[in-house]
Amino acid sequence: MIIKKMKKLPEDFLWGASTSAYQVEGANLTNGKGPSVQDVKKVPEGTSELDVCADFYHRYKEDIALMGEMGFKTFRFSIAWSRILPEGVGAVNKEGIDFYSDVIDECLKNNIEPLVTMFHFDLPAALEKKGGWSRRESVDEFVEFAKILYENYGDRVKYWLTINEQNMLTLVGDVIGTGSTEGVENKYKKLYQDNHHMLLAQAKAMKLCHEMLPDAKIGPAPNISLVYPASCKPEDMLAAQNFNAIRNWLYLDMAVWGRYNNLVWTYLEERDALPDILPGDMDIMKAAKPDFIGFNYYNTATVQWADASGDVKLGDQQSGAKEPGVYQSFANPNLLRTEFGWEIDPMGFRATMREMYSRYHLPMIVTENGLGAYDKLTEDGKIHDEYRIEYLRKHIEQIKLAVSEGVEMMGYCPWSAIDLVSTHEGVVKRYGFIYVNRDEFDLKDLARYRKDSFFWYKKVIESNGEEL
Ligand code: BG6
Repeated sequence: MIIKKMKKLPEDFLWGASTSAYQVEGANLTNGKGPSVQDVKKVPEGTSELDVCADFYHRYKEDIALMGEMGFKTFRFSIAWSRILPEGVGAVNKEGIDFYSDVIDECLKNNIEPLVTMFHFDLPAALEKKGGWSRRESVDEFVEFAKILYENYGDRVKYWLTINEQNMLTLVGDVIGTGSTEGVENKYKKLYQDNHHMLLAQAKAMKLCHEMLPDAKIGPAPNISLVYPASCKPEDMLAAQNFNAIRNWLYLDMAVWGRYNNLVWTYLEERDALPDILPGDMDIMKAAKPDFIGFNYYNTATVQWADASGDVKLGDQQSGAKEPGVYQSFANPNLLRTEFGWEIDPMGFRATMREMYSRYHLPMIVTENGLGAYDKLTEDGKIHDEYRIEYLRKHIEQIKLAVSEGVEMMGYCPWSAIDLVSTHEGVVKRYGFIYVNRDEFDLKDLARYRKDSFFWYKKVIESNGEEL
């Protein structure tokens, strides 16, 4: 549709940006924090450890002040489960409780609404050692953690996100360091059993949130990329539907409607991998209702039909994969790519928002979107990241178009507020509005610099998206 009458974004649109605890904080094994799965993994060759990251743990006041200077209405950050509960369950680390309490207060002092992710890729290592999400107990462990968060921060936090990118935990956990399936006999069975427990934990945490904090709002935060068929061949269309179901709809159908997507169900049945579901589980899933949908969007995916031969090929969050007999990724020739090979598709962002809204009819907030690049700090302390401005501008334009088409959008939180460590490509893959002066292995002075995108975003926020 060519829109002739553009609608304005809502006055209370939540402009902000995102980070996650294990990628930004540092102090990963100090101040009472227990190790998470991220701290015990072998980091990919050529990338730094997670002991310092952007040193947000010690510099959060300066960082939040900079976010305030940009005019952020919200800041999406995550709470490290093992900073609150070093063993995942049991004894609480008071220093951890106080740290996030201070972060929340600092946000409020700067007129920034905290948007808290409860779990972002960092299961306590102690729980993983016992079997992680494969154990039924993991459901109650998560709910107990959620209860502690509601008790301690519920007086000040109005917006909650349950689990970041549960779909990526399931599909590419090996790549993002959330768990390995090495040596597991039927890895589908394990992964989708873990997934069932996470879905149940999420449903229970949403219900508890509504009981304990009636004024708060809570939602999931999967990574949603609309999947295109590589051509108008009917086989490619089926492949696109397969991957859409496996990658996207399973997670949202469950969070919103409390039912398993039928294509995914069949896919699991075929692999002898149906999850064990206890009586009552599906009632819990059905009863839990999110208030909104948070979602991360980087680009679309394109797939073609895959015959039944060949091996499974793994991608990462945004790059291609193959499953014989189900789908095979296809490089979309119509799209540009980032320096790190991820496709760029602003129009696909609109298509994704339209599709999600027409399926679920819930307000939505973008909890991640952004461009990873090798930024350069100039001698006079500048970072000319025009490419990032271009990327974000084009995506915000599409939000405005989607809103003009009747899609309800609550806010936009690109990745990331500040430079941090990427999931598997190191510190040099930068996303922030704020530059952190460090290299992969040389920590330098960790000083903060405002990138060109910082000044640009400030104006975008000031004008509520009118000045792009
Ligand atoms: C999302 C994650 O998958 O993408 C973030 O939620 C991550 O944790 C972001 O950092 C960008 O991906 P990457 O691999 O470039 O860090």
